[in-house]
Amino acid sequence: MAGHSRMEPRGLAAIVLAAGLGTRMRSRRAKVLHEIGGGAMVARTIRALADAGAAQIVAVLGYQAREVEAAVRAAARNAAMAVAIQDDQRGTGAAARVGMGALAPGYDGDVLIAYGDMPMLTGTTLREFLRAHRESDAALSFISVVLRDGGAYGRVIRDPNGDPLAIVEARDASATELGVGEINTGIYIARADFLRHALAGLEPRNAQHEFYLTDIVAAAHSRGLQPRAWQAPDGAEFAGVNTREELASMETILRDQVNRRLMAAGVTIVDPASAYISDQAEIAADVIIGPNVQILGRCRIGAETRIEGTAWLKDVEIGERCHLKLGVRAEECRIGADSEIGPFANLRAGTELEGHNRIGNFVETKKAKIGRGTKASHLSYLGDTTIGRDTNVGCGVITVNYDGYEKHHTQIGDRCMIGCDTQLIAPIKVGSDVYVAAGATIVREVADGALVMSHHPQREKPGWTATWRKRHGDDGTKHHDAPKPTSK
Ligand code: UD1
Ligand code: CA
Repeated sequence: MAGHSRMEPRGLAAIVLAAGLGTRMRSRRAKVLHEIGGGAMVARTIRALADAGAAQIVAVLGYQAREVEAAVRAAARNAAMAVAIQDDQRGTGAAARVGMGALAPGYDGDVLIAYGDMPMLTGTTLREFLRAHRESDAALSFISVVLRDGGAYGRVIRDPNGDPLAIVEARDASATELGVGEINTGIYIARADFLRHALAGLEPRNAQHEFYLTDIVAAAHSRGLQPRAWQAPDGAEFAGVNTREELASMETILRDQVNRRLMAAGVTIVDPASAYISDQAEIAADVIIGPNVQILGRCRIGAETRIEGTAWLKDVEIGERCHLKLGVRAEECRIGADSEIGPFANLRAGTELEGHNRIGNFVETKKAKIGRGTKASHLSYLGDTTIGRDTNVGCGVITVNYDGYEKHHTQIGDRCMIGCDTQLIAPIKVGSDVYVAAGATIVREVADGALVMSHHPQREKPGWTATWRKRHGDDGTKHHDAPKPTSK
């Protein structure tokens, strides 16, 4: 530690311990994969660590490592994310050792350690903790809270001077120790060199025959490196999830926090109890959110947009003054300003509406780039397509994009009238200012300014219906109000 001056900022790395199954969830899924606030629990911890300024983050994984890895990588943002596998789950100390092995070689900054099942934890709190740790110049700090009843948590035992001496697990504690209200939250910051040394010296001398990370507190104390306990004012942020019931109640608390923050910033939420909004959403003032709306992932919604209700939106960017009518499902897409969507519209990934668009009922779009002012008001499938500006897509228009092996592209120009019930057999190109007659099947490129149709000439057989019915022994009453024979 001699090499560090107080003034020179040390680096920050983080280790998140998430190798366990979490048996009390009674699930085949790893606990940290259970979702809260619209994403995996562990993703929230990773984000908090990244927000706290961790430049590298190591996730220690074991149970369902592949799935958990995908979740942590998606959450890591700018931090360098590494994964270390703990095959033999012999305790939190063993897990931390595995994590240290995956840090950049020779790393000598601070290491923040947290558990992956603490979804309320915020980067703001971690930054305060880090500041206190660095101000004290301690080799090791951890976060404690004082509870009326310490339950199953590790107890913070202090020496006669009032300095932390050790953390004793509830299982290993004496009756007097169990009476201590100050508990270990499970969040630590230590200097890498101290940590390597302390972890190497751990021994599984306890009720569970495990290597306890918590024993690094006693290790520091006995080496005369005074460990610090940073007492957090509010324990709620450090609550761990162990059961489905805790998961649900935490979801409610989180959701309530987000809703209140948004309302304070000028968003109308008609029924907060049925608004499920991710804390990553950016929602402008005077947006109105109706009942039964889910806004997941990283959505951005511009001012004065109105969501009537019953909507599922994930990673969607919506411009100003849009109107989402009842029943919109949209994912990974962009809806330009002044657009009107729904009722009952399905905007799939890669939909980009330039603005002033109308996408009406029972219209599905996918990878569809649609120019300003273009409308598709009823019953269409627009997939793998580029459409210019001010085109009208009639009722029942379908891009026939799939040949059973590959998807093909449809291009339509500006100011077209695509007649009702048209099929566009992709790959296909329709120019600008084209009129497509209703019911056309378009198989070849259409030049700018043309009228195109593919009708069969209409034929008519007078009196045909009566002949047909007669052949089936029907005098014309069968389909109407002829009295039904009684079954008795
Ligand atoms: C731990 C602390 C306890 C603290 C409590 C706070 C220890 C010994 N005890 O107890 O002082 O009050 O957290 O919630 O650290 N894990 C691994 N590999 C392992 C074992 C655990 O990755 O081999 C992970 C788990 O997946 C979990 C976390 O570490 O996310 C904590 O482990 P857990 O067994 O739940 O510790 P607690 O008994 O809660
Ligand atoms: Ca736990």
